[in-house]
Amino acid sequence: MKWHKINLPAEYGLSSLKVEGKKLCLIYEEAKLQVTSSKCPHAGADLSQGWCENGKLVCPYHRHQFDVETGKGDPGQGNYIRTYPTKFKNGNWYIGISSPWWKMF
Ligand code: FES
Repeated sequence: MKWHKINLPAEYGLSSLKVEGKKLCLIYEEAKLQVTSSKCPHAGADLSQGWCENGKLVCPYHRHQFDVETGKGDPGQGNYIRTYPTKFKNGNWYIGISSPWWKMF
C-alpha cells in the first residue's frame, strides 16, 4: 500500500480529490477524515455532491446510502463503495491506496 499525503479542504464537509487516477470522496468532519470512492455504483453520481447522515454517505441522485466505515450499501440496495484507510502523521493526513495485483509484478 502506498500512502499519499493530501491537503485537507479548509472547511468540514464533503469534497472530491483525484489521487493516482482515482476520484475520491473526502468526508472531513469533526477532525476526522474518511475517504471513499466518489462514483455511486447505482447510476454513477458523484457522491462528493451528496451528504452525510448518521454515519452514512447519501447519494444526491436517488438517495442510496453507504456506510462510511465499511462502504456497504443499505439492505436491499445490493451495492457498495470502496473505502480507503487514512492516517494522521506529523501534522499531515495520508490516504492509503493499494496497487492492483497486476501492477505488483
Ligand atoms: S446514482 Fe446514486 S443512488 Fe442512483
